[in-house]
Amino acid sequence: MRLEPEFKPILTDDGSTTLLHPRFGVPYSSRHGALTQATELYLKLTETHRHPCPKVLEVGFGLGVNFRVTLQDAMTRGVRLEYLAYEYLPVERRVLETVPLPLTPPAEAVWQGVLEGFAARSSPWVLEGPWGRLELRLEDVSTAVFPDLWASAIYLDPFDPGVNPEPWSPGVLQRLFGAAQPGARLATYSVAGALRRGLEEAGFAVKKVDLRQSLPQARKRFWLQARVPSSRA
Ligand SMILES: C[S@@+](CC[C@H](N)C(=O)[O-])C[C@H]1O[C@@H](n2cnc3c(N)ncnc32)[C@H](O)[C@@H]1O
Repeated sequence: MRLEPEFKPILTDDGSTTLLHPRFGVPYSSRHGALTQATELYLKLTETHRHPCPKVLEVGFGLGVNFRVTLQDAMTRGVRLEYLAYEYLPVERRVLETVPLPLTPPAEAVWQGVLEGFAARSSPWVLEGPWGRLELRLEDVSTAVFPDLWASAIYLDPFDPGVNPEPWSPGVLQRLFGAAQPGARLATYSVAGALRRGLEEAGFAVKKVDLRQSLPQARKRFWLQARVPSSRA
């Protein structure tokens, strides 16, 4: 067995690796830092790193970078993690294995369990342990059913809207709002005007976040944070 040649590895600015997707022609994570994006954008802008019992809904499991960073944070803090990820084009195990991350041994042990289960391709696929629960649904979010009022955090992480527009559509954003707990936060790397309007129309309060406040060397300027009002119906 060998890695499909078209999944080209890219060394990102922080030293972590991502892959170029052969069909979409874009990388799975930011060229400016795959690990940094997972940590600073998805984990921290959603306040998942402070949550006592985080429930994360992810659009686009991809290479599991966001999952691994979130898992490691939760295990280090000793809090239970529930993680529900949607993915309509799962890669093979050997592709995932080309994107290692510097995890603690307990988090790496859980990740090895994910790699073993990933080969099964059943959906939903569930992995549970003392650390919490991962549920992977191999579904298209354009038609998937999300749980009601469930998520404390939403990681909106499809490919670039220019090549992968469906998951950014108003209908998906409205259903994501329906999946969020009061006070939940959504994070994403795109700050496109149509996305911001779609999120606001769905009910989120949207804020452009200047990366340079926390990452002075950042080459990308803005990320997006969206919040569900605490008083939501
Ligand atoms: C930017 S990558 C995600 C990277 C991932 N979050 C990580 O941490 O490695 C985008 C992912 O979204 C998935 N995706 C794109 N459109 C989708 C859709 N409509 N439904 C479900 N997954 C989708 C792609 O297959 C791809 O794996």
